Amino acid sequence: MFTITTWGESHGAGVGVVVDGCPPLLPITAEEIQAELDRRRPGQSDIVTPRNEADAVEILSGVFEGKTTGAPIAMLVRNADQRPGAYDEMREKFRPSHADFAYQAKYGARDHRGGGRSSARETIGRVAAGAIAKKLLSAKGVEIRAFVARVQDLAIPETVLSEMPFPSPAQIEASAVRCPHAATAEAMIERIKEVRAAGDSVGGVIRCRVHGVPAGLGEPVFDRLEADLAKAMLSLPASKGFEIGSGFAGTLLKGSEHNDAWISQDGKPRTATNRSGGVQGGISNGEEIFFNVAFKPTATIMLPQKTVDARGAQTELTGRGRHDPCVLPRAVPIVESMAALVLVDHWMRQNAQCGTFQL
Ligand SMILES: Cc1cc2nc3c(=O)[nH]c(=O)nc-3n(C[C@H](O)[C@H](O)[C@H](O)COP(=O)(O)O)c2cc1C
Repeated sequence: MFTITTWGESHGAGVGVVVDGCPPLLPITAEEIQAELDRRRPGQSDIVTPRNEADAVEILSGVFEGKTTGAPIAMLVRNADQRPGAYDEMREKFRPSHADFAYQAKYGARDHRGGGRSSARETIGRVAAGAIAKKLLSAKGVEIRAFVARVQDLAIPETVLSEMPFPSPAQIEASAVRCPHAATAEAMIERIKEVRAAGDSVGGVIRCRVHGVPAGLGEPVFDRLEADLAKAMLSLPASKGFEIGSGFAGTLLKGSEHNDAWISQDGKPRTATNRSGGVQGGISNGEEIFFNVAFKPTATIMLPQKTVDARGAQTELTGRGRHDPCVLPRAVPIVESMAALVLVDHWMRQNAQCGTFQL
């Protein structure tokens, strides 16, 4: 019910989004949307791509006198710092583990400049729409916090992670890598700088935690809440895995160890533990929703790699242009945005089916 269409390519005129189905009368400003875009923009620290873009958002429609009108909301970010020449070689050669070959095979045509449509610049539209979704949710007391939990093998210790209080935005933004555990953050930053200096890249895991979602969101059986969250996260460029609650580690436990016992708290059912990650039967149960998203090492690296050209001949390619040695710090606001979009959509669907007639 709350839908978005993103559009634009890395080196085209700009990128953006059309948000359809947004409730009217939500107060929203370009500054609020810009604040979220600033968290994903390139050039924000010395461990991300140095491409220097302000990513300034323009709201073209759907907002009048500071409030949404219920009409489609179109938002535009013009591309500014383009160096298409840096990608000339990629017109002919397929970058290993990037989208070049697959786009060519599917469409028979592609905008090779900066990865075109497969560039992570596409996610600007998601973050702009996510800012609106977050504002809707915050009016309902829902807060979403994503952070970097692991870079390569450097992880927030499991005991710290599992007992960590809900982090504040300031704790997450305190380090350039967006890891709220200071000692781990420092080691992560060091590692990212090391691999970048070597022309290489690393991946890792983002954890997302959501507070304040009421019981009842999710549409069994195909649009289970965790299924829609998984799809949202796996639709992100470079994401390779999704797990909710106990995830893959839960498979090591017995049922007696794994079950979340029900306890009565102030007369309300709560769970003593939260291995379900806040979702049971595809429906939120009122506990914290938490999940992990795995991101691979950035495909474009500054080292020679074997590849094939458009004519099928074996060749070599060394990455050029400006790239993220690790996509995770900039992916944090993108993960939060996708979570917000899924939750707003499910909230509206829940109300449409179960709230309209009040039988
Ligand atoms: C925030 C963010 C930044 C990214 N930056 C780069 C980059 O600088 N260079 C690159 O090769 N890939 C980058 N990627 C990943 C590519 O967009 C992605 O690998 C590519 O579209 C192929 O898709 P796939 O990895 O999901 O198969 C980034 C991804 C995200 C989420």
